[in-house]
Parts: sequence; C-alpha cells; structure tokens
Amino acid sequence: MKNILLIGGSTGIGFQIAELLNKNNKIIVASRSKGDLDTDQVTHLEFDVLKDDISKLDLPDQLDGLVYCPGSIDLKPFKMIKPESFEKEMQLNFFGLVRSVQGLLDKLKKSDQASLVFFSTVAVKVGMPFHTNVAAAKGAIEGFAKSLAAEYAPGFRVNVIAPSLTDTPLAEKLLSNDDKRERMNNRHPLKRVGEAKDIANLAAFLLSDNSSWITGQVLGVDGGLSTINSN
Ligand SMILES: NC(=O)c1ccc[n+]([C@@H]2O[C@H](COP(=O)([O-])OP(=O)(O)OC[C@H]3O[C@@H](n4cnc5c(N)ncnc54)[C@H](OP(=O)(O)O)[C@@H]3O)[C@@H](O)[C@H]2O)c1
Repeated sequence: MKNILLIGGSTGIGFQIAELLNKNNKIIVASRSKGDLDTDQVTHLEFDVLKDDISKLDLPDQLDGLVYCPGSIDLKPFKMIKPESFEKEMQLNFFGLVRSVQGLLDKLKKSDQASLVFFSTVAVKVGMPFHTNVAAAKGAIEGFAKSLAAEYAPGFRVNVIAPSLTDTPLAEKLLSNDDKRERMNNRHPLKRVGEAKDIANLAAFLLSDNSSWITGQVLGVDGGLSTINSN
C-alpha cells in the first residue's frame, strides 16, 4: 500500500484519481474544501497552498506519491492581462508546487521510488491565442519537472500530464452551453472534450509501479489535439 498525497483532489481530475486509487492505497487530499470526497475512504486535510505551510500538515513519514492539482483557466487577450495577473497564475500553478515539493522532500526520499505527477496544458506544446498567462505558468512546470526528474533519479520519477479541455468545475465556463460544448468537441480529432477519468487513468498509472521506467516525460492526454490534424 502506497501513501499518496493529492494537493487538490476535492473536485475534478484529482477527485477521480482519489476514486481510482483509494481501494489499494492510502490517499490523503490536501485542499481548501473536501467537496464530495468520502472521508471514510480518503483522508482530507484542510490546506490552502497559497497561505499554509505544508510542513505543518499531519502527514505520514513516508510519501510514495505526490500529485499537484491546483490550476486555473483564465483566458484573455494578452493586452488585457495585468502583470499582477501573471504573478497570480505563477503563484498558484508554479510557486505553490515548488514550495510543496520542497516541503515534502524528506518524506518523498523515504520511499523506494516516489512518483510525482504535475499538470501542464496542451497550450504549452501548441501555441493558442489568449493562453499567454496559463501557458507561461505551465511551461515553467514542464521545465521544472524535467530538471527535478534528472536531479533526483533514480529516487524520484517526475512526470507531467498535459490535458486539453476536460469537463471539470475548472472548465465550467468554457462548456456552459450546448453550442460551446459542440464547438469544443469538434476542435479535437477524437471529437470530444476530455472527462476527468481520461486524465486520472494516466495519473493512476504514473503513480503505480507499472510505470517504473517512465520519468521526465510530458504526456499529452488531449484527444489528439497536440499531434494530429484530422481536417
Ligand atoms: N480541466 C481542464 O480543462 C484542464 C485543462 C488543462 C490543464 N488542466 C490542469 O489540470 C489540473 C487539475 O484541473 P481540474 O480541472 O481537475 O481542476 P479543478 O476541478 O478546479 O480542481 C482543482 C483542485 O485543486 C484544489 N485547489 C485549488 N486551489 C487550491 C489552493 N489554493 N490550495 C489547495 N488546493 C487548491 C481544488 O480544491 P479546493 O477548491 O477545495 O481547494 C481542487 O480540488 C490543473 O492544474 C489544471 O490547470 C485542466
């Protein structure tokens, strides 16, 4: 049984990861709210990555898995984005992640081989209008993850999942009516947007020993959007 910490996991992709893994692992979710989590199956710790100190959380001595879920989708034309907004995005997506990994290093080192899973976006590989803010913050995660993977191999495996639009509370505004949903479905070669489970399945694999020879990768789960032109 592995000890796996999900930072974020009360909703969306993290919630699905907890659902997939809670039978055979000890899952701890650290987030601001517990959402729909079944706290008989999963331990929930109240935690705000922007305010709280992760070393104060009541965590096991050893962590075998870490997933960092907090993120945002704030799409705007570049000229309308204030510098403070870039800073805000970096704080949530990137600096929160850096502080978390640093605060957990000793616990991760106690595992035979800890698996760390972070989230990017398809918009890092494929330039898209109105994505400058989120793509910059997620691009930082990709570079950070590869360096971290190199520095801590073979002790840690570090991989990044880069989803395209996935139906979670985070994406609510982009899928708020039938027209928008149809347009978004049609943008993808596989003709649908993602479900949280599409992404969670890969995260669960990366957290398991079945992926023990995979590290330093950015893996697209995007309905083909980043690699195929099917028109
Ligand atoms: N959904 C998409 O279309 C999509 C596309 C590309 C990339 N992604 C990336 O995939 C990741 C997961 O996204 P998702 O769609 O599952 O999002 P989500 O449904 O909004 O879930 C985010 C999770 O992070 C937690 N969280 C947010 N702010 C936090 C904070 N300050 N401190 C602690 N926890 C916090 C939330 O819990 P609380 O609110 O309870 O704190 C929630 O459990 C994100 O990094 C996102 O950028 C998503």
